[in-house]
Amino acid sequence: EHTIATMPTTRQAGCPFDPPKELTQAREQSPISRFTFPDGHQGWVVTGYDLVRSILADQRFSSRRELMRHHPLIDYGDIEVPPAPPGEFLLMDEPQHSRYRRPLVGKFTVRRMRLLTERVEQITADHLDAMEQAGPPADLVTAFAKPIPAMVICELLGVPYEDRAVFQENIDKFMSGETSDEELVAAYTATQQYLAELVAAKRANPTDDVLSDLTDGDLTDEELKGMSLVLLAGGLDTTTNMLALGTFALLRNPAQLAALRAEPALADQAVEELLRYLTIAKTGQRVALEDVEVGGQTIKAGTTVVLSYNTANRDPERFPDPHVLDLRRRAGGHVAFGHGIHQCLGQQLARVEMRVAFSALFGRFPTLRLAVPADEVALRPETADIYGVKSLPVTWDA
Ligand code: HEM
Repeated sequence: EHTIATMPTTRQAGCPFDPPKELTQAREQSPISRFTFPDGHQGWVVTGYDLVRSILADQRFSSRRELMRHHPLIDYGDIEVPPAPPGEFLLMDEPQHSRYRRPLVGKFTVRRMRLLTERVEQITADHLDAMEQAGPPADLVTAFAKPIPAMVICELLGVPYEDRAVFQENIDKFMSGETSDEELVAAYTATQQYLAELVAAKRANPTDDVLSDLTDGDLTDEELKGMSLVLLAGGLDTTTNMLALGTFALLRNPAQLAALRAEPALADQAVEELLRYLTIAKTGQRVALEDVEVGGQTIKAGTTVVLSYNTANRDPERFPDPHVLDLRRRAGGHVAFGHGIHQCLGQQLARVEMRVAFSALFGRFPTLRLAVPADEVALRPETADIYGVKSLPVTWDA
């Protein structure tokens, strides 16, 4: 039986794209390790690909928020966590989860998302225009990686143009985790309030967007607000960090970037491989609802299991030479979007955004490069839910 003493809080210097080495070493020993949480809870960490997938597909493991009482890095003591509010289906099990996810599924199909391609192209072109006009250098996060996903979500929810600046400012504040508690609460409250007003406005005057469509069904305003919040929470920070960290990774792998430039048809595969290689949603969590046998261990009812998506996506039994970024690899089947009933609802949209944004960025700036030495790029700490860069200074020949 293998044990992990603590969850690593840093990555190895010089290897910003690789999972912390302690987790990789754990997986080399065993796909599942015992782990004592900082608050003393006796749980598990799962690092192997097959085992991560099988737990995600197993509904004896719960996502209910009220059961998520242990944090792998922080001791919150013996806390009571309330159930997820109406509509926040990411942290619910069946049948509640389906009540909210089902009416959304049809809105996020490959076909519907492809229809959005032109809008995403326009939004991307606008931001590249602004970047070009301002001239080098630029912070790719603020100029590109943040505003594009934010504008796309605004389209999806039908946020009117005149509201977008304030809306984006608020979501920016509560997503970044960098502002003070007071400001964070204020920004979160303002966003909640805004979404409540938006739902009411769409019910009164439906427009051509996902939120308006949903006012047709039997969902209450409160539920629609919760669902909108899940879309924001799921779709912004993730896509932003894939765009920024993905750009960083491509700039650090010039042969791969050159291949992508020479062969635009590689874009879909490239996106899949970047998702696997970077796995910015590093970990997930589930709680066993009953005693379950997995990987030769019995996970007791009530026990918390940390799922390491980034080591799963670097499992050599599933992905040969896993630490190599190879845009030609068949990376499909990765767990960067999770797996099972909670598998990312917005994945087709995220794919469209990444394909469009990477192609446009590298097409527009053939000489794009880092404006600082690579080891000075400020990375997010392991304590952040989503991995990525805080900023990415870039420059180009104007
Ligand atoms: C769920 C990753 C983009 C909406 C998830 C999960 C992951 C993930 C790992 C599973 C969480 C779990 O099982 O506990 C990502 C990544 C993205 C991305 C890496 C960008 C590259 C988006 C976008 C949207 C979105 C653009 C929406 C516009 C959601 C929603 C869920 C989810 C609603 C919850 C699904 C459910 O509980 O049934 N995402 N996501 N995501 N994602 Fe994404």
